[in-house]
Amino acid sequence: MNIPFFDLHRQYAEISDEIEEKVNVVMRSGQYIEGSATQELEQNLAEYLTVKHVITCGNGTDALRIALQAVGVNYGDEVITTAFSFFATAEAIAQIGAIPVFADINPWDFNINVREIRKKITEKTRAILPVHIFGEPADMQEINELAVEYGIPVIEDACQAIGAEYHGKKTGTLGKAGCFSFYPTKNLGALGDGGMITTDDDFVADICRALKTHGAGRIGARAFESLYHEEVPELEEAMAGGDALYDPCKYYNYLVGGNSRMDSMQAAALTVKLKYLDMYNRKRTDIAMRYSEKLRGLPLRIPNMENVGKKSCWHQYVVLCDRKEEMIRYLGSCGIGAGNFYPVPLHRQRAFRMQGYEECSLPMAENVCRKTVCLPVFPELTGDEQDYIVDRIRRFFGETE
Ligand SMILES: Cc1ncc(COP(=O)(O)O)c(C=O)c1O
Repeated sequence: MNIPFFDLHRQYAEISDEIEEKVNVVMRSGQYIEGSATQELEQNLAEYLTVKHVITCGNGTDALRIALQAVGVNYGDEVITTAFSFFATAEAIAQIGAIPVFADINPWDFNINVREIRKKITEKTRAILPVHIFGEPADMQEINELAVEYGIPVIEDACQAIGAEYHGKKTGTLGKAGCFSFYPTKNLGALGDGGMITTDDDFVADICRALKTHGAGRIGARAFESLYHEEVPELEEAMAGGDALYDPCKYYNYLVGGNSRMDSMQAAALTVKLKYLDMYNRKRTDIAMRYSEKLRGLPLRIPNMENVGKKSCWHQYVVLCDRKEEMIRYLGSCGIGAGNFYPVPLHRQRAFRMQGYEECSLPMAENVCRKTVCLPVFPELTGDEQDYIVDRIRRFFGETE
């Protein structure tokens, strides 16, 4: 049997007619960037997540960078984040010229440890950036309490966690802003790159919208006014109405941002897929529960299924194995794709070598990296396939049929 780690073909085949119809409307419209397709997606996502503002953008990495800039993170500032995540979490901080300060994780859910965050807070700390790793919510109440104590904003990296819940609220709506990725293999995946920022804060929303489009136009002017408390006369003129074809703010730039717009075809595809997201997440949960039931008793650490107040969206199903590489290779030889997230913790990546984190400086993250094996958990995985995977894992540990 051949079981890929993730299979995008199966999901697309099931809803291809619907997606193609919706994307065709965009193709015929001539409006390929933003416009009504993006607005529809933003509205639907805001309702789904119960959040005031959804700002779509080019990808999750940009979402993180823009959200951090919007809450005032600047060159030389420190941002505390987890040592165990995809590289982009820390990269977004470094792109601003800020310093990612890595904190160790909980060994039970691989999320950032709140006591470790406290130890890392300094006068230079300008934000805390927890990640809901593998779709499992981080300890947001404790993190928010700490953040309030020190007056530091929390930006959630919810790139792997769309649809997950923390005490009944969706992840990505629990801090000052939430950042999401629509990379194709995410629980809500586009047909290319995409991302979004969520926030209930009008000011942060304005800055994010301005930063993703060169700080230009009316939104740029509004962001400038809120940031610098300085009136922009052409904005007042624009808001007063006047000539419908002449926008006095057009080609005027008020902040240095960049280009991170979502294209309309991605927005159309995501609007269709959003309708199925809860169903996909339920299927992922069923698969996760079945793995945990069937893998019990093996020398593996399997995920905790009973986290009170937390509902994972099972972006990944991850076990800890002392013979990680051997197990991944063995599964590969059986035709099973297994993931290796992540082989190196962020503080030990060569890209951050200048920060001088020694080996064993963040022991939990380092230990987890040595042991994680990610099993296939996409919604279309069949029962037979899962049985085969479990059977081969049992064989790996010496059990015969
Ligand atoms: C935790 C995390 N943060 C950030 C990102 C970056 O998202 P993107 O690939 O859309 O830039 C990803 C996605 O791969 C991710 O998993």
